[in-house]
Amino acid sequence: MTTDIFDLYESNVRSYCRSFNAVFNKAKNAVIYSEEGRDYIDFFAGAGALNYGHNNDFIKEKILSYFNSDGIMHGLDMYTVAKRDFINKFNESILKPRGLDYKIQFCGATGTNAVEAALKLARKIKRRAGIFSFMGGFHGMTLGSLAATGNIQNRLGAGVQLPNVTFMPYPYKFMKSFDTIDYIDNVLNDANSGIEKPAAIIFETIQCEGGINIASTDWIRRLSDLCKRNDILLICDDIQAGCGRTGTFFSFDRAEIVPDIVLLSKSISGYGFPMSLLLMKREHDIWQPGEHNGTFRGNQLAFIGAQRALEYWEEFNLQKDVQEKSDFIKNYLTNEILTLHNLLDVRGIGMVWGIDFSDVGGAEISKQIARRCFEFGLIIERVGRNDTVLKIMPPLTIEMELLQTGCRIIKQAIIDVFKENGLNV
Ligand SMILES: Cc1ncc(COP(=O)(O)O)c(C=O)c1O
Repeated sequence: MTTDIFDLYESNVRSYCRSFNAVFNKAKNAVIYSEEGRDYIDFFAGAGALNYGHNNDFIKEKILSYFNSDGIMHGLDMYTVAKRDFINKFNESILKPRGLDYKIQFCGATGTNAVEAALKLARKIKRRAGIFSFMGGFHGMTLGSLAATGNIQNRLGAGVQLPNVTFMPYPYKFMKSFDTIDYIDNVLNDANSGIEKPAAIIFETIQCEGGINIASTDWIRRLSDLCKRNDILLICDDIQAGCGRTGTFFSFDRAEIVPDIVLLSKSISGYGFPMSLLLMKREHDIWQPGEHNGTFRGNQLAFIGAQRALEYWEEFNLQKDVQEKSDFIKNYLTNEILTLHNLLDVRGIGMVWGIDFSDVGGAEISKQIARRCFEFGLIIERVGRNDTVLKIMPPLTIEMELLQTGCRIIKQAIIDVFKENGLNV
């Protein structure tokens, strides 16, 4: 395996390749192959961009036939058949059954561009500059989104101030005994709080990059009520947790709320193509034409993949499948992993789970475990404060057998690393 050319020519900014040091050339569903022919089980799923697996045949067939028909490949935001078909399908399968009357804005290719659009739109609607975001939240790396992202290391990369965002406490483990919604309410209604009313509150129902911190349905509902009472827009960033990851299409379905603005990206295109979109309540569509523009808004192949992914979701009854696999992961983590050490913590919902090592050796141990997993043939990422949480995020379509093997690899890696470091097992 040679990686010299990357070291020599690719910027130092590269990151994931440092943890998964192999040169990959093929992938199928939940397995990625290196050029040396080694196979790796994928518990990373493109950071949530591959919910339907690598090279899903059902989706691929449609994409190939579009290719072969010389369909429009690049269309700016012009009207195309691919876009029309996607809007129709999205409306029929996702919005209408939920009684949602959203308009759709296709943003630039990345999630962060949808976040930028949402922040701009909220500020324009409410004529207020401020935004509330949550500690531990991740919303992207461009300046507006980065301002709403909690990770200090990421923020330092900006080299400029990141103004107009105030961070509120998220109900994560150290906040269990603290009513974060009451706190926000007080901030908003205390004439001396020193913090002006924001245009919007941006939140994730599950902070994935933040360490698999899961807001309860009650908390989500109270947040939604708080926004309504205080004339603040609620933006749900469903870029990572959406598209079926939690067991339902939107991660906020479980709380039965209707955010003013919803952001989707990552798995929405079904096939790993770049795509992001913003859903807004009809009355909030006050954009002037072209006011949030961009050359790559509405990737045509992504429209084809996205439409087909929605068909896949229905035809293969993925929701039921996710529930079964979720039950398996939960049981495995509870019975086989939690029992390895009394200071371990596991959290999750649907098919996104975390094993928290912050009280058992912290970042150094989680790093060694992730590295050992890779040596055993499993790709798994670390997230959370100081990267102390192993994130289990396989494609939703992973075969049960591979899911079991991947979990067993994690267990073995933990046992080995704990023993090597003198931690009790
Ligand atoms: C919740 C959330 N929002 C926004 C983003 C940014 O998306 P992108 O990396 O495509 O810009 C991410 C990426 O991980 C994310 O997890």
